[in-house]
This record gives sequence, C-alpha cells and structure tokens, in this order.
Amino acid sequence: MCGIVGYVGHRSAQDVVVEGLRRLEYRGYDSAGVALVEAGRIEWRKRAGKLANLEKVISEEPLPGTTIGIGHTRWATHGAPNDRNAHPHLGHGRRVAVVHNGIIENFDDLRARLEDDDHHLVSETDTEVAAHLLELQVASGEDLTTAMQRVCQMLEGAFTLVAVDAQDPDRVVAARRNSPLVVGVGEGENFLGSDVAAFIEHTREALELGQDQVVTITRDAVSVTDFAGREVEAKAYHVDWDLSAAEKDGHDWFMRKEIFEQPHAVADSLLGRRTRTGELQLDEMRLSDQELRDIDKIIIIAAGTSFYAGMVAKYAIEHWCRIPVEVELSSEFRYRDPILDYSTLVVAISQSGETADTLQAIRHARLQRSKVLAICNTNGSTIPRESDAVIYTHAGPEIGVASTKGFVTQLVACYLLALYLAQVKGTRFGDEIADVVHQLEAIPGHMSTVLDRAEEVYELARDHVGERTVLFLGRHAGYPIALEGALKLKELAYIHAEGFAGGELKHGPIALIDEGMPVLCVVPPKGRDQLHGKMLSAIQEVRARGARTICLAEEGDRSAAAVADTVIELPKVPVLLQPLLAVVPLQLFACELATAMGHDVDQPRNLAKSVTVE
Ligand code: F6R
Repeated sequence: MCGIVGYVGHRSAQDVVVEGLRRLEYRGYDSAGVALVEAGRIEWRKRAGKLANLEKVISEEPLPGTTIGIGHTRWATHGAPNDRNAHPHLGHGRRVAVVHNGIIENFDDLRARLEDDDHHLVSETDTEVAAHLLELQVASGEDLTTAMQRVCQMLEGAFTLVAVDAQDPDRVVAARRNSPLVVGVGEGENFLGSDVAAFIEHTREALELGQDQVVTITRDAVSVTDFAGREVEAKAYHVDWDLSAAEKDGHDWFMRKEIFEQPHAVADSLLGRRTRTGELQLDEMRLSDQELRDIDKIIIIAAGTSFYAGMVAKYAIEHWCRIPVEVELSSEFRYRDPILDYSTLVVAISQSGETADTLQAIRHARLQRSKVLAICNTNGSTIPRESDAVIYTHAGPEIGVASTKGFVTQLVACYLLALYLAQVKGTRFGDEIADVVHQLEAIPGHMSTVLDRAEEVYELARDHVGERTVLFLGRHAGYPIALEGALKLKELAYIHAEGFAGGELKHGPIALIDEGMPVLCVVPPKGRDQLHGKMLSAIQEVRARGARTICLAEEGDRSAAAVADTVIELPKVPVLLQPLLAVVPLQLFACELATAMGHDVDQPRNLAKSVTVE
C-alpha cells in the first residue's frame, strides 16, 4: 500500500529519497512527504496529492543538503488524504519523525492515553501516535533502536514504521509486522524501502526481514533484532531485476503482481474489524444500529467485476441476515424507476469510487430517500464522499486495468457487511459470526496455497492459445465466479467466453458445446444440500457432448475428478467463501493465456481503469 524509503549515507538524502518515492509511487499517491535530519533538527516537507506536488514545495522551500532522511508516499487508510494527514508525522517536541505503512489497530486507546498526558496530536492518523510514543522513549534517554523495540510491543495491527531522531544523525530505524520492508546494503550507505524498487538504482544487495523485527541502519552497518531486542540474522539476497521489473516486484505485469498480493490484501481488509470481545466493528460505517435494523430491503448496484462481487453478496446477506437483496447493474438502475424508500439500503460497490454509472445510480437512490453505503477501495473518491456510509477495502492501489485484488477485497467487505447486519439484527445465525470470521481469517493462507500451484494453471493456459470459445460454469456463489472468469478472459485474451449457471445449460446454451470445447467448472464444496451433485450432473452433460472439462474442486473431491479432464484443487472452505479461492486460478488462467498470445495484460485494448462516462 504506502511506499516507504529510508536512507543514510554520503549522497544527498533528498535526491535518494525523492527518487525512491518516484519508483514507489504506484503504491499510493494520496500524498507524499520527506523528513531529513540536519544539525539537531528535523526538516520536513509534505503535501497532499501526487509526488509532483511535494517536489514543487521542495523547489520553493529547499531542504538542507543532508545525507540522512526518510520519505513516504501515501495510500490513505486513517484520515482524509490532505496535507495534515500526510506523512511524515512528528513527535511532541519535533525530535522524532516517522513514516508508516499499515494500520495500528489500537491507536484509539493509545491516542486517548497520550491526550490524557497533554499530548496534542494534529492529524487524524494512527501514525502520529507512534511518533509521540517514540519521542517519549528517546526523550527518556533510550536510543532510537530501543525506543522502536519498546513501542512495537505496544502496537497491535500490521505496520512498517521508519523513524529518524534529530539527535542521532547517523541512524535510521525501522520495524515491520505483517507489512513489507527490505534493506538495501551499500558501501558507506544503506537503504530501506517497501520494496527493492526504492533503491535498486544504487544497490542490488538486499536483506529480507522476518516478522516482528527491528532494523537499524547507519552509514556503515545494518543490525537486526526482534521486538525484545535479541539479535537476529537477516537473509541476504542479490536482486537481478531491472528497474521496471523491480516496480512490479519481479512480475511481468502489474496484474500478475496484484494477483499475488491478494493474500495480503484480504488480510489487510480484515484488519481491525473485530473488538477484543470478538464482536465485529466497522469503523467507517456511519449508519446507526437503529438505521440498520430498519432496513427491510437491500439493492446492490455496481458494474463489471464489482457487479459480480454484488452477486456473491446477495447469497451471503440473504443467507446470514434474511434480508431480501436485489443486485442490479448500475447503468440500468435508475432507468427502470426502481421502488425505493428510507427502509431500502442501497449498497454501491466500486473499486475506483469514480464509475459514472454507479455514481449516477447512488444520486438517484438518495433522491428517493434511501440510505447509500459504498464499498470502495479509493479513500476520498466521489462515490464514498456522496454516500451515507462506507466500508473501505484495503487492497492498495490497483494498477492493472482488470480488477483482481480489488474484487477479492470487495468480497471480503460484502461478507463483513452481511455478518455485521446479522450481528445488529440479531438473526438466528448470530452465534456463528465468530466462526465465519475465523474462517475468513484463514483465507489468506488458503489463497497462498492456490497461488503456490500457479505453474499448473499457467501450463493449462498455454495449452489453450488459439481457442475461439471458452465456457465457464458455476452454481450458487460459484455462478458469479464463472461470470468473472469469463469476463477476465474476454477482456485480457480477447477470446469469446461466457459464464453460465450450471442448471441453466440444458435450457439452451448446451447447444454451443462442440467437440473439444474447454469448459471451466467451479464445483461447489461437497456436503451442502444437493448443490455438489447437481453441478456434477451439469458437467457430465457437457462432457457427454465432447467438452473438455477443467474442474476447480475441493481437495480430495474424487467425484469431481471422475468427470474432469483436468482438476485444479482448492483448499476446503464453506460454500459461501469459496469464491475467494475459486477466482484465483481463473485470474491466473486469463493472465497467462493473454501473455502467451502477446497481449498487453495491464492495458487491454479499448478499456480504461476508471470509467467516468455513462
Ligand atoms: C474488470 C473491471 C471492470 C470494473 C468496472 C467497475 O476487470 O475491472 O469491470 O470492475 O468497470 O469499476 P469500479 O469497481 O471501479 O466501479
């Protein structure tokens, strides 16, 4: 998500840090800032918006020519994307400056304690709390390394923190927990970055840090400890990527990188959603419990991939909350004169937060007195601004035009909304909420298992170069995934692809089946009603007519294997959560097939990332 740089050495810190930020700007561009240490003082500049805004300020108000500094390019989580919330943040006496990526979950408690002790915090961020805590430690005589170890023990959540102390002009200290940080090792200089793109221009020797570790860089040394201060050894490696590969973390496409970021994106989107007593909390949900209890109908509006997330949400909300849900394309919504009133909740799903069709649809809904809740990945964008409430997903900026991590985090937000409504409404399902949240928390691990098998999917994809039509089948929550698989293939590989509900085939589309036609089938997990068996019947029907069947099925599902020409195994999860895993091989399949066909995967023809016209 955010991009972080740290430097100490013999070059101009401003140049190294700003150049590093330029290479990391794809990680977020809500604001940018730098802090340098000069003659016992911290000098800093920061500005909302793209890096260019920061560069303009620096050219107007030049920074000192010092050789130690830190920098940040922000993708906003806590607090609006403005100058005040931009990083770096400073401690009480402006002695310590900090940049941060991630979410400090217990920042409310820590902030309250600091304010009780007369600390004046000027931003709405969770980061500023860490700056104040670090400064308290160094002011009491600790060095910055010990201060960082102590403060990290107080923090909950996921974070990378990088700090400098005005009184210590040869030391940059950083820490990481569940958030990326790498060290670049130079001669007479050392670097820190969210990824190697931050410093690859200067050194290709890097150190990989483990979880819960603190790293101290000086001009001539790097030392790593755990949060308790025990020394640990970091793993050294050589980076042989070129610059453009480095920005994509070694992947050929941003899209592929984003597919592989999904376990992280899901984990980040789940962070901070549970109280200590296990209840769900949705911080940005600006609707009261009473307003939520008054809801008797939900209409979900969205476009494209986000629409398919909405289709999955319908299954979850109706099952867990017993509230009727309609899902509608935002471009169609207001033209059919929908029946809405104050007891209808309209949920608008949009990764970009700028899609014109969805924006017009929410304006229409609000005119009819309905409450609108946005599910969005872009802090401060128009759709959440014009909505009554919002659940932000934490996928980080999505650069590939085809949505991947945006989609899976939308699914997570939809599940959270469904569970939250069940909690507030007190449905009979209420007792199971904690259990489902645990199952959701296990999803990043399962996703990594699916991604570990990517090579099998790539081989399969390369075998399909030259195909003219590919069909996708699914049932229940797997049906929207079939539609999404088909959309990904259409938009990336320009191959005719269609998704169908398994039971619908025999009502017409089965006529399309030809000898050897590939059909990718999302098989529901075993053991729920007759869903699994019915899907297998549909697969048998297409197979009997010559189709080549590729089944995405739960590990060990022998009956699916019996009707499949190829099986892609998925870890065992409940049927409602299976979309989070089943979509991953379909993304990999489309990405690899398009690559093998020589297409530009990140910028497919005729498409734009954010569709701001109706
Ligand atoms: C497909 C894709 C699009 C978007 C759609 C809505 O891969 O990315 O179908 O999902 O244009 O965009 P948002 O979610 O930004 O409203």
